[in-house]
Amino acid sequence: MHQMSRRSLLGASLAALATRTAAAQQPPPATLPATPPATPTIGGDDAAFQPNTLFLTWHRDPTTTMTVQWVGTAGETADTAVYYRDATRSLVGRLAPHALPLGSWETKATVARPYPTTDFKVFRAELAGLAPGTDYEFRIGKRSPVYRFRTMPARATDAIHFVTGGDCGVNAHAVANNVQAARQDPMFAVVGGDLGYDNGRSVEVSLAFIRNYSRHMVGRDGRLIPLVTCIGNHEVDGGYGKTREKAPFFYALFDGLYPDTGYATLDFGDYLSLVLLDTGHTSAIAGDQTDWLDRALRARRDHPNVMVVGHVPAYPSYRKAEGTGGKLGTGEGNRKHWVPLFDKYRVPVVLEHHDHTFKRSKPLLGGLADDDGVLYLGDGSWGRLRPPQSPDKLPYLAATSGDYHLTLHRLQGRERFHMALDENGRVMDVCRTGQRKSGAVRAGG
Ligand SMILES: [Fe+2]
Ligand SMILES: [Fe+2]
Repeated sequence: MHQMSRRSLLGASLAALATRTAAAQQPPPATLPATPPATPTIGGDDAAFQPNTLFLTWHRDPTTTMTVQWVGTAGETADTAVYYRDATRSLVGRLAPHALPLGSWETKATVARPYPTTDFKVFRAELAGLAPGTDYEFRIGKRSPVYRFRTMPARATDAIHFVTGGDCGVNAHAVANNVQAARQDPMFAVVGGDLGYDNGRSVEVSLAFIRNYSRHMVGRDGRLIPLVTCIGNHEVDGGYGKTREKAPFFYALFDGLYPDTGYATLDFGDYLSLVLLDTGHTSAIAGDQTDWLDRALRARRDHPNVMVVGHVPAYPSYRKAEGTGGKLGTGEGNRKHWVPLFDKYRVPVVLEHHDHTFKRSKPLLGGLADDDGVLYLGDGSWGRLRPPQSPDKLPYLAATSGDYHLTLHRLQGRERFHMALDENGRVMDVCRTGQRKSGAVRAGG
């Protein structure tokens, strides 16, 4: 990581933020409605179907796929198929209805599966073969409003921006952070564990988290912001070392990305790879997951932007890294099994959570500051807080704060910018990471 000119980046970032915020307060252009009008209903029934848990996620390449998902009850609407089409074309059609015929709707049937411990169902439709970097509109059956999404671009020609965080819960701070996150108009959001704190037991909490996300995580133009997650201890009844059945709500919603294990990769074309880890909740750190991580990082060693996401931090900012009384310290498994791989492949950024603070580490190699090291960012205070330790006391830390926050990432050319924002949109911290220095480490195997 480069300790860039903080003032210059802060100035630029604030200017960009101000522009964005100002734009967010502008009314949408009169000719392009922020939310397309609902499609007229069939059968004379005006009661539109609007599931309040509707959200988007991904199982595969976000440049050409999108998964539409909601939790509901069987029979609450007659037609649960997802109808979708290129929105650009239909918007042009609306503005000049005789100039271009509207595209026809394509249809994808949903699969309905049980939402554990309830009579609810998870309705899911994965749309594939989509055009990259394209606005789509979709509706559920013929009685829902028309919603919107945008596929990720095929190439990172323009800046790629997204938000990350963790440890949300369902309180007012979590909602405030959702609002701030949506105000950044991110292409997607990543929540690195401890979503609603359902603890694998509370269906109400699991649904409240999704309802909050569904309601607030909407971009400026009415576009739904896709959600990518990894598992945390509060998705699991018992927290650590359990089976998938002990994380029933998490896997009911996200087993498309995690069909067999608690870890997965999500590759965005050739420009971004998320490596999503299970820090010992339903998959052990050592053994299979570590072997897989080695292979996953090796296969992506030349990728420009590999970002690891996990829940429990390798370098904690609240809990103690050292074990006491025969108990392991926080992150000991990560440091023993994963950090050598992060170092070996020079993972540029590891996103960690769980400690409920803001933290930025120094760039680290083997736990020691090194200009060509790995940056650890976290520590999960989207909606939960603890007082962080001071960087003076922990030599691996560069900055901490005890405020609620999310991080806005911007991939721009060969650089990455990472800006922490508090729940009021105040810039708390800014840093930059550059490309891995080729030849600095032999990453073969
Ligand atoms: Fe947490
Ligand atoms: Fe946690």
